[in-house]
Amino acid sequence: MESTDAQQMWEQRYAESDQIWSGRPNARLVEVVSGLSPGTALELGCGEGGDTVWLARQGWRVLAVDIANNALRRAAAALAAAGDDLVERVEFQQHDLTATFPSGCYDLVSAHFLHSPTEWDRDSVLRRAAEAVAPGGRLLIVDHAEGPPWSEGLHDHVFPTAEEVVAGLELDPAYWERERVERAERDGVGPDGQVGTLVDNVILLRRL
Ligand SMILES: C[S@@+](CC[C@H](N)C(=O)[O-])C[C@H]1O[C@@H](n2cnc3c(N)ncnc32)[C@H](O)[C@@H]1O
Repeated sequence: MESTDAQQMWEQRYAESDQIWSGRPNARLVEVVSGLSPGTALELGCGEGGDTVWLARQGWRVLAVDIANNALRRAAAALAAAGDDLVERVEFQQHDLTATFPSGCYDLVSAHFLHSPTEWDRDSVLRRAAEAVAPGGRLLIVDHAEGPPWSEGLHDHVFPTAEEVVAGLELDPAYWERERVERAERDGVGPDGQVGTLVDNVILLRRL
């Protein structure tokens, strides 16, 4: 398949430095998923694989997806470095989720900071994500509710609230339980060691 502008943008973004993200799992993933029994997980926009490796370590079988092959290569390398036994628990697939979506149903569908500066219909990707949740499974969406305090240029950006993200999913409430839909603060450390408060939207929905 031909690469899209969005793919080229993300490939370039990853090519500009050896590592963009911390390599650690996202705090909300650890907070929410530590209490769940492992099963199958679909990770959307896995980036460099910090969450992928953590999920595999907890015993989840993971399908990790990203638009950027550069990200997937790094995630696969991080997984291999974490141990041979983990490698067999994870499959990586390249998808521009606006064009193709992995098949199957999963006990956990996780979308952490699935943001992109490109023009895209994110709501429809997240609706497709909800369809991929198996009965009894969960959809976990974690977004920025505000730009990080050290991120210049984002202060005027309007981020959707957790309720707006849920509304965009257009779910039938008869089939979904809202386990968490909230704006939540946590301590964070910026790329140059700056300490500050980060504000997330945490959305955890269980398919009945
Ligand atoms: C802000 S990063 C977050 C990465 C990772 N989830 C994390 O929390 O560290 C967003 C990721 O989504 C991916 N992405 C953006 N648009 C996408 C799309 N249309 N389809 C699939 N992945 C996409 C990017 O390549 C990038 O790795």
